[in-house]
Amino acid sequence: MAARRSFSLLFFLAFSTLHSLSQSQSDPILYDIYPFIRVYKNGTIQRFIGQDFSPPSTDPATGVLSKDVRFSHLSARLYLPRNAAGKLPLLIYFHGGGFFTESAFSPTYHHHLTSLVAAARVAAVSVNYRLAPEHPLPAAYQDAWLALQWALSRSADPWIKNHADLGRFYLGGDSAGANIAHRMAIRVGQDNPGPGINLRGMFLNCPFFLGKKEIGNESGDAYTEAQMRKLWVYAYPGSAAGLDDPLVNPGTDPELGRVGCGRVLVYVAGKDVLRFRGRYYAAALGRSGWKGEVKVVEVEGESHVFNLINPNSAKAAAMLRVLASFLNHS
Ligand SMILES: *[C@@H]1O[C@H](CO)[C@@H](O)[C@H](O)[C@H]1NC(C)=O
Ligand SMILES: *[C@@H]1O[C@H](CO)[C@@H](O)[C@H](O)[C@H]1NC(C)=O
Repeated sequence: MAARRSFSLLFFLAFSTLHSLSQSQSDPILYDIYPFIRVYKNGTIQRFIGQDFSPPSTDPATGVLSKDVRFSHLSARLYLPRNAAGKLPLLIYFHGGGFFTESAFSPTYHHHLTSLVAAARVAAVSVNYRLAPEHPLPAAYQDAWLALQWALSRSADPWIKNHADLGRFYLGGDSAGANIAHRMAIRVGQDNPGPGINLRGMFLNCPFFLGKKEIGNESGDAYTEAQMRKLWVYAYPGSAAGLDDPLVNPGTDPELGRVGCGRVLVYVAGKDVLRFRGRYYAAALGRSGWKGEVKVVEVEGESHVFNLINPNSAKAAAMLRVLASFLNHS
């Protein structure tokens, strides 16, 4: 009996060693979330998008000025329109990239913020929060809140001090950045930001929200839906509620009604699997007891963050005009 047990134990050990050896040899990848990131078991991290750096500048086409600033352990890119005089609305923007990729300094976001600042004539702060997996969530939310407090401290930077009207500040973001913007709007609603500071509105472009239970026809694009879910699970391994975490599923969030502004604009794209969540977010916000106005614009025939991917398209130009007018609401 004893002999037999040790034989099978030996066999088991030999087999499992062989098995894990062959596994680690044949599959060096820990996880792969195309087209965002691949993480190897040896710790190597490969990002597929958003790695390029576009320097701050005076944009030759629009005259928009930009510069980079550092505070605490963070950085951000600030923008001012050409010939800024007096006070302008302030936009605080959070870039997308699935919590794993992109930056406030990539060509995509530099171009987007430059165009938006030119069209809307607002001052803007584009926040460079830390990314997973080096800095798993909730690091990005903590950074975003720190950046918000920095921008709203009045003396943060001469551009903000001289040109930002904090009584007209806005939040914006796309994809994962829209998720972060929404969370910041709740924080603003919870912590009164102080006299003279007023969050007027928020726009969410193709916001990244999820949930365990399927809504709409998410399984109609099962591959992309699975990738979206992997992003959350690997970006936030410490989340107890996973895909039903209130940070990612507004339907489970008891604080949803605390969104601290009166106007929310949600863009969804007709071919984006996240469109179901964008609509669901707006509906949940409407049911939450929040006393504001939420509007959903659905752009037919377009994919996730189409306006960032094809900024020169007619639909992106139309969206830019809507955003510019949203940021100048009296
Ligand atoms: C990690 O593994 C990948 C894939 O096998 C390889 O390309 C890379 O060079 C390795 N990096 C280190 C530091 O060993
Ligand atoms: C869900 O999406 C798939 C793939 O686009 C489509 O074939 C199917 O008809 C859709 N189902 C519904 C109920 O809309």
